[in-house]
Amino acid sequence: MLDIKKVKKDFPILNQKMNDQRLVYLDNAATTQKPKMVIETITEFYEKYNANTHRGIYQLSEKATFLYEEAREKVRIFIGAEKTEEIIFTRGTTESINLVAYSWGRKNIEAGDEILLTEMEHHSNIVPWQLLAKEKGAILKFIPVDKEGKLNLDNIDQYFTKKTKLLALIHVSNVLGVVNPIKEIIAKAHMNNVPVLLDGAQSIPHMSVNVKEMDCDFFAFSGHKMLAPTGTGVLYAREDILEKMPPFQSGGSMIKEVTMENTQFEDLPIKFEAGTMPIAQVVGLGAAIDYLNSVGMEEIWKHEQEIVNYALNQVRTIDGVTVYGPKEKIERSGVVSFTIDGVHPHDIASILDEAGVAIRAGHHCAQPLLRALGTEATARASFYLYNDQKDVDQLVEAVNKAIKILK
Ligand SMILES: Cc1ncc(COP(=O)(O)O)c(C=O)c1O
Repeated sequence: MLDIKKVKKDFPILNQKMNDQRLVYLDNAATTQKPKMVIETITEFYEKYNANTHRGIYQLSEKATFLYEEAREKVRIFIGAEKTEEIIFTRGTTESINLVAYSWGRKNIEAGDEILLTEMEHHSNIVPWQLLAKEKGAILKFIPVDKEGKLNLDNIDQYFTKKTKLLALIHVSNVLGVVNPIKEIIAKAHMNNVPVLLDGAQSIPHMSVNVKEMDCDFFAFSGHKMLAPTGTGVLYAREDILEKMPPFQSGGSMIKEVTMENTQFEDLPIKFEAGTMPIAQVVGLGAAIDYLNSVGMEEIWKHEQEIVNYALNQVRTIDGVTVYGPKEKIERSGVVSFTIDGVHPHDIASILDEAGVAIRAGHHCAQPLLRALGTEATARASFYLYNDQKDVDQLVEAVNKAIKILK
């Protein structure tokens, strides 16, 4: 069992009032708060070790390089990758997916080829593929969702054709918390010789993830959604795939030798890390992984199941509230999306803010999914390891208050 009181104390930002109320932060799908351990690691880096990496022949630079590369090793172990060469640091999930679309996509996608996505995707796993498809004359296809927002996988083979070159899909929905049956989907894709990119932005912060067991070809995620600083993200890809990919961005660092006519690129993973990287932030990502490991990913997942089911049971019974997503009790990540009849979700969020409760309202960068669910916007409460039943109670009380005021 998680000791939430102890966990909460690790997050200084939570120890404050908002509009004279206890701050209840429920926008964790957008970004998460940072534990003292991460904040102190960054401060210590700037106070003691700050220098640029990989090029200095002095002690500070060697220490900064050591810490940066140590973070890469922590990521490798955390996601179960085989080699550190397979871990590329990026700015976040969006940049990781763009890297694949520009580098792998431009090399491998031709006119008439098909890129398979799903209706559940975040815009960052749609728009880069739209741009690529327009440039190349390729075709985007979408696996649809059913009325409850689950992927329609009854006859999954129908979505693959001889022209399908990639399946890019979300692991866990940022709108509904639905966990896709990823192993089965990837196995089917591979039977059809189609590589798979997984958007892991909402899975890796909450559950134990192993890229080898899932057998995905690409895995993209953001550090800031898993307690790490903003400006950090990761692209995992198998070494044999990365070796064949041309660079994404180019310039300093990612080179071995430059003449006026030509450039020999660095080996993996630096080939894909052009310019000065967010060094302190990456070291902070390493500290975030240490923190998550110290709590335990299994414990975090179990805790979220309890909190989300506690929240669902209460929010569903409020008169005039519609909760989106599957109705049956399934394993889901800590997200509750809801609307109040006749009230715009932005107004719900404003009233909740007055009650100290921070939630997100809008389309959650997933407009095709919301349209499929028959709405343009929802209010979304998303939980993490530091949220407890008291937080849910404050949410429910605030929703009831919003209904009284707005209806
Ligand atoms: C499922 C999913 N994919 C991608 C992203 C984009 O992440 P970032 O803005 O960190 O690049 C998000 C962020 O909300 C997300 O929830």
